[in-house]
Amino acid sequence: MEQSGRSGPEVGSFYDMTFGAFDIIFEGTIHTGYWGRGATTFPEAQRDLTDLVLDAAAAPTGGRVLDLGCGQGGPALHTARRLNTDVLGVTVSAAQVADATSRAAKAGLAGKVAFELADMTAMTYPDASFDAAYAMESVFHVADKATAFAGVNRVLKPGAHFVICDYYLAHEQPAEDTQLMHDLIFGSPFVTLEAFQRLLEDAGFEFVAARDITEDCRASAAHMTEAVTDRHEALVHAVGDQAAGFTAEAVKQYNRLCVDGQGYAVITARKPQ
Ligand SMILES: C[S@@+](CC[C@H](N)C(=O)[O-])C[C@H]1O[C@@H](n2cnc3c(N)ncnc32)[C@H](O)[C@@H]1O
Repeated sequence: MEQSGRSGPEVGSFYDMTFGAFDIIFEGTIHTGYWGRGATTFPEAQRDLTDLVLDAAAAPTGGRVLDLGCGQGGPALHTARRLNTDVLGVTVSAAQVADATSRAAKAGLAGKVAFELADMTAMTYPDASFDAAYAMESVFHVADKATAFAGVNRVLKPGAHFVICDYYLAHEQPAEDTQLMHDLIFGSPFVTLEAFQRLLEDAGFEFVAARDITEDCRASAAHMTEAVTDRHEALVHAVGDQAAGFTAEAVKQYNRLCVDGQGYAVITARKPQ
């Protein structure tokens, strides 16, 4: 069966269901790592990737940043600390909103960083209310990217940047792998860099750049496998045998289908002045 993609509520149910396991493996930041700046650990490489995104987002100090698909809040908290900005993170998972909100409170950032349950394809924030937006490994879930990007364009101020950091279709995928992405990882079909550019321009953005960082991210696969293996007992203890097994399989297939199988890029667009 040809898959057209996943809806926000479906993806939300996936992250609610996997919350306990992902909490153990990812420690608050659910994306790959960038190894081109000398990182020696996975959390350092993840932080370096967030920094690449923030460099491209060029958010003004003291401004307001929108984190689309914020997960458990790791990138949003880093953004607020590094740039002294307010950050609003949105996710379709209620479990992630609760966890990210509690992380912000523990970090003493409750006044600067907030998290809400919202679907990026149906945002109701006022026009021109954010100084920058980014989406770290969230857009690959979204079936209706055209609607999502038009919404992001609407809520950004003129001149503001939108940065996507995600997988792109570098090689045609066998139909059974597209099906596996859909079933196991709740992804939507990958799109090429050219399709990303077209979608962004159709949504009203000026395309700025696509920086291909595929090779500098590949080492992440081994680190994710290691995290699942090293924490197997903790995973079984927290979520049980079956869910721990599902998580190990999901990470294995994520590595094969995404990290090893496709390209990865930081894509920057700007809302015209
Ligand atoms: C792989 S996680 C990345 C989380 C976070 N960006 C990070 O790097 O730690 C994907 C995130 O995208 C969010 N997401 C997927 N589809 C979404 C949608 N339609 N609207 C809002 N968030 C969405 C999920 O809820 C999840 O938080």
